[in-house]
Amino acid sequence: MYLAGIFVVLRVFRVFQRMFKLLLFALSLLLFLSTTSSDFLVSYALTKGNPEYFRYLEGYKRPDSTPFPMHNSYTQERELLGRTLFFDPRLSGSSWISCATCHSPGFSWGDGLPKAIGHGMKELGRRTPTILNLAWSELFFWDGRAASLEEQALGPIAARGEMNLALDDMIAKVKTIPGYKELFEKAYPSEPISKETVAKAIATFERTIVSGNSPFDGWMKGDEAAISEQAKRGFLLFNTKAKCATCHSGWRFTDDSFYDIGLPGSDIGRGKLFNEIEVMQFAFKTPTLRNIDRRAPYMHNGSRKNLEEVIEHYNHGGSVKRPSLSPEIKPLDLSEQDKIDLIAFLNTLTSSDKPVEFPSLPR
Ligand code: HEC
Ligand code: HEC
Repeated sequence: MYLAGIFVVLRVFRVFQRMFKLLLFALSLLLFLSTTSSDFLVSYALTKGNPEYFRYLEGYKRPDSTPFPMHNSYTQERELLGRTLFFDPRLSGSSWISCATCHSPGFSWGDGLPKAIGHGMKELGRRTPTILNLAWSELFFWDGRAASLEEQALGPIAARGEMNLALDDMIAKVKTIPGYKELFEKAYPSEPISKETVAKAIATFERTIVSGNSPFDGWMKGDEAAISEQAKRGFLLFNTKAKCATCHSGWRFTDDSFYDIGLPGSDIGRGKLFNEIEVMQFAFKTPTLRNIDRRAPYMHNGSRKNLEEVIEHYNHGGSVKRPSLSPEIKPLDLSEQDKIDLIAFLNTLTSSDKPVEFPSLPR
């Protein structure tokens, strides 16, 4: 009886001893984690533990498929015809300017120039915008004057300053190239070679130009190592203190809207279409920020040489204060570190896409 009592006491003591050891182990593990890999704990807390952070990420999910309109649905044959027309300089009066001269895949579908250069080597009034991710856009051109890609596509061919080929002459010219006959027949079997089918084919090709997965998308999917801690801080700034996301929102980083962000110049942008509406004066379309580091110089007039100059512009609250200036454009009081973090974030939006296939042009 007495011995049994001693056994019980010893048993209880052992159990306590084990529990104590376990506690000690857990404590030292925590200490180890917090000193040697504090980065890990910080990023874990940010994405998994910080609901605010998580909520911002939710807004940037990529869609699973590309939308095509009912009246011009996708087929491979239409894409091939559109791609061929897009790269064919014979669609210009001089036979040496194609859409791709200005919208070059090598410059993320821009031309790397402050302002476009068109027919006769003359400079145009605005910079060439990218044609990335336009399948989701609602209005086209810097001032939104075209309502569909089909409507937009013929403009540059006929424009004197761009490709300088009257549309009737363009159709006649395309018809003289025998190889196009088959391409059109396969793409639009019951329709003739016409302005409409040229426009529809080019629009179909343009809708297939979509930026691929970038390091930022990898992080969104949960790969903590896909982007740096600096870029993660930049992402938070982008959504909070720097207020970029009020306009550059969603996975394409644009709200498809128009603002005066206080750039100097006499081009009134969307004001030409709506001369009564004050906020439309000097307003231009919010550009996508996907693959943005491939497209310097920036803005509709190419006036900002690099991303540093862009951030500086916003940090000052714009350069020109006019009644039309967007109320979101105010001095931001960003620190030097904030600016570096923002640029680190912007650089994570670039995807390494497969080079596009240059079509062999029909004879
Ligand atoms: C000489 C250079 C040049 C050529 C050639 C050219 N473009 Fe453009 N493109 C521009 C410029 C500049 C703009 C912006 C004009 C504006 O907003 O007023 C533009 C705008 C666009 C836009 C609107 C993008 C947006 O975000 O709204 C699309 C789409 C487009 N071009 C497609 C084409 C197609 C298709 C062709 C060939 C048929 C073509 N471009 C030929 C320079 C060019
Ligand atoms: C009020 C809306 C608004 C806010 C806020 C805003 N942007 Fe913009 N952003 C625009 C518009 C509109 C343009 C085009 C302006 C033009 O060319 O006239 C633009 C242009 C840009 C460009 C140049 C893109 C190109 O292809 O030329 C970059 C880069 C950019 N913004 C980044 C940012 C960053 C970073 C922030 C936050 C610090 C920010 N934006 C805040 C609306 C906004």
